[in-house]
Amino acid sequence: MLFDLLVVSAAVLLNSRTAAAAGTPCQSVSSMSAAFMSVYPSATQALVPAQAAEDCLKSVPIDKDEDLALIDEMQLFINWQSNLAYLREPPEGYNEERLDVEEEIKKIRDDLDNDKYEDEYTLMFDLSTTLSKAYDFHFGFRPDIRNVFRFRRGNIGRGLKDEFGIVSVSKDGKEVPKLYNYYDIMFSAEEGWTPSPISQINNQSAEEYVQAWSDIFEYHEDHARYNRLFPNQAQNSMGSPVNQFGRSNVPDGDYTTVEHENGTISQYINNAILELDVFEGVESGEDFWTRFLNLGPPTTNSKRDATKIKRQSEPTATGYPTPEILHSEGVIGGYYLSGQGYDDVAVLSVPSFSPETDDGPEEFQDLIGTFLKDATDSGKKKLVIDLRGNGGGRVFLGYDLFKQLFPSEDPYGASTFRANQAFNITGLFMTAVLEDSTYEDALDDFSANGLNGQLASLWTSIFNYKLPLTIDNDNFTSWEDYFGPEVRNNDNFTVPSRKDLNNFFSDDLTLDVTGYRTRANKLNKNQPFKSEDIVLLQDGGCGSTCAVFTEFTKTQGGVKQVVVGGKPETGPMQGVAGSKGSQVFSWTQVYNQAVLAYENMPEYQEQLNETELGQLVFSQRPLMRTSYQASGLSSSGINLRDNIRMNDTSVTPLEFVYEAADCRLFYTADMVRDVTNVWKKTVDGQWGDANSVCVDGSTGQESSTPTAQGQKTSAASTMGASGVLVAIAAFVMAFLML
Ligand SMILES: *[C@@H]1O[C@H](CO)[C@@H](O)[C@H](O)[C@H]1NC(C)=O
Ligand SMILES: *[C@@H]1O[C@H](CO)[C@@H](O)[C@H](O)[C@H]1NC(C)=O
Ligand SMILES: *[C@@H]1O[C@H](CO)[C@@H](O)[C@H](O)[C@H]1NC(C)=O
Ligand SMILES: *[C@@H]1O[C@H](CO)[C@@H](O)[C@H](O)[C@H]1NC(C)=O
Ligand SMILES: *[C@@H]1O[C@H](CO)[C@@H](O)[C@H](O)[C@H]1NC(C)=O
Ligand SMILES: *[C@@H]1O[C@H](CO)[C@@H](O)[C@H](O)[C@H]1NC(C)=O
Ligand SMILES: *[C@@H]1O[C@H](CO)[C@@H](O)[C@H](O)[C@H]1NC(C)=O
Repeated sequence: MLFDLLVVSAAVLLNSRTAAAAGTPCQSVSSMSAAFMSVYPSATQALVPAQAAEDCLKSVPIDKDEDLALIDEMQLFINWQSNLAYLREPPEGYNEERLDVEEEIKKIRDDLDNDKYEDEYTLMFDLSTTLSKAYDFHFGFRPDIRNVFRFRRGNIGRGLKDEFGIVSVSKDGKEVPKLYNYYDIMFSAEEGWTPSPISQINNQSAEEYVQAWSDIFEYHEDHARYNRLFPNQAQNSMGSPVNQFGRSNVPDGDYTTVEHENGTISQYINNAILELDVFEGVESGEDFWTRFLNLGPPTTNSKRDATKIKRQSEPTATGYPTPEILHSEGVIGGYYLSGQGYDDVAVLSVPSFSPETDDGPEEFQDLIGTFLKDATDSGKKKLVIDLRGNGGGRVFLGYDLFKQLFPSEDPYGASTFRANQAFNITGLFMTAVLEDSTYEDALDDFSANGLNGQLASLWTSIFNYKLPLTIDNDNFTSWEDYFGPEVRNNDNFTVPSRKDLNNFFSDDLTLDVTGYRTRANKLNKNQPFKSEDIVLLQDGGCGSTCAVFTEFTKTQGGVKQVVVGGKPETGPMQGVAGSKGSQVFSWTQVYNQAVLAYENMPEYQEQLNETELGQLVFSQRPLMRTSYQASGLSSSGINLRDNIRMNDTSVTPLEFVYEAADCRLFYTADMVRDVTNVWKKTVDGQWGDANSVCVDGSTGQESSTPTAQGQKTSAASTMGASGVLVAIAAFVMAFLML
């Protein structure tokens, strides 16, 4: 861990920089990291000044012809993104700028063609930033060159307090908040002093500075992006600190200069962090290219050990009170509040739907049942479900939580794909292969061969029309019946489909939703809490599986939302601003689907070569130039499926539906220091006097109530659909953070 090595003085870094200033920029990085290691032989990572690292990045030469080919090939992957047409022509009520992905990429391509780019880093930065403007964390190009360094703001030597972190705090919860040093807020009360707000950063208005900077975060609302700047209580509770202004993959000069209202100025050093000796022998931008770029997927040797070790069960989640129940991976925890007006309140904290151990999902499901039963048995009447920072995970765990809360409801979860040519051809192939096989055949194959059985493994595919159900829970009768296409917004989409929760092959073979199949008798048929006694607590960070869960709970369950944080202005904010897509596909998965179809149709390859599918199979540059997740899948991805709301005849992807929460709170210092104060304030906002608790103008919004038929007004709410959304939180974070 980084914190192990923070025993170095700033002077060493800066002196070593002066000493190394002579050679090429990458040579400087190389000699500085060597110097760092000789001074700190026990360090686990090396630090060099951030500007030196950026200079090195910008000295990496551009390879025009290769990059032109890369851009052309990328387009084939991007064509699988579900909602390009909606990004280009958003429906009324969409709260972000329109984005014509194809046109923006073409502009960059033209600039490259006209020699307007001088270095590889700037080109890759622009390409990746263009996709980020979809503000959909399922969708992105995360290039290798942006994955070599991590950047950190902070001094070194005095531990935690030295890392620069900010937080937005209101004096009383009603007044618009101001920015503070996070550690000032955390420690000043017990040390008995009053912190002073931050007025300027790097000689600019601190607010303007951080708001502009927060635009890198891929969330559907500026308030949600703003919240990503701050350490997140819920994500921290899982044991790894989150501070995305303090640590990111974006270089920002050598210093962060912070001025407080009381006149105090603090200066923090910005460092690049690199793996220990990776720069040994890197003398130039060309060497950098050879060492770090175009490497493709990690080799099996460097892959993380697949068998995950179960985390030692901690008695409490980091920074949280003693729980009634706590998942061994910290992904779900149950609490009871106490104090007058709170004695009947239970809190279910769900910072993630992504347990990683083999037993993790079942533990998650069982704990929900246990906690809901214990809570009602103990006389609890109200339930707060804390979903702050929840970037998703395994989609059936979202279905599961909903089902256990509303046992009589059938989770809806309809979704559509972009009906592109490659999708059509792959599906036609799959249909031919599976033509004579039945569900029973596939089950037999699975019991004999597990997922090594070809039939069983093909049966799970998104291209198997026999697997999903229509929105009315009927079978599809043919590929054409499932593929469509339906034309909307000048693009083609598949017919909306739902998951069959009674089908073994649906989505997640290791997991049945409680109430179905092997867990049919684990469902407590008594609804534990009434709709009006449940509230969702969110901060805009909810997305993916969390968005799916929220849509069920809101639209089918009739539950309300309280949201916390956002920019320092009054008015509404959305609870869900992470991806509202219901399935992500890494570029690796897109590629594998295409290859599977192509290789199994040898007699058609010549014809296929004329199609996008055939081209995709010979387009490996994007897979060579992306960075990778620990799982071995590319960090670059597309949103494969759009979520569609129940009864929405306009079939609008929920990404494009604005939904204000029912009440918005600002953090106060007490809330930042103690999560139980956040939960109590949520109770006050939902069941107390909303006028005196909620931020002015944040209640009674028309868009807070899910509307069913079409979305004529911008009003509406979230929605549900599906897909295995394994580790979305990790997916995004691996890229943005240390
Ligand atoms: C001014 O505010 C900063 C930040 O809270 C604090 O560290 C410092 O002690 C304050 N200075 C004075 C003189 O109060
Ligand atoms: C910031 O302002 C201070 C004076 O307030 C000045 O000394 C310093 O040079 C400025 N820094 C930059 C980067 O402009
Ligand atoms: C799907 O592919 C088949 C076979 O090539 C073709 O006949 C059909 O028109 C295609 N459908 C669409 C919507 O492109
Ligand atoms: C759908 O097909 C399966 C066989 O694959 C059958 O068991 C099921 O009853 C069908 N469902 C409906 C609604 O027809
Ligand atoms: C939609 O599909 C039709 C064939 O059904 C095709 O002719 C058309 O080009 C497709 N539109 C887009 C935008 O891909
Ligand atoms: C398909 O295209 C690839 C790449 O251009 C080529 O290597 C291959 O020979 C082609 N296959 C056929 C059957 O034409
Ligand atoms: C959707 O329509 C059906 C039939 O009219 C109705 O029973 C159901 O409550 C509606 N669902 C929602 C979420 O409006």
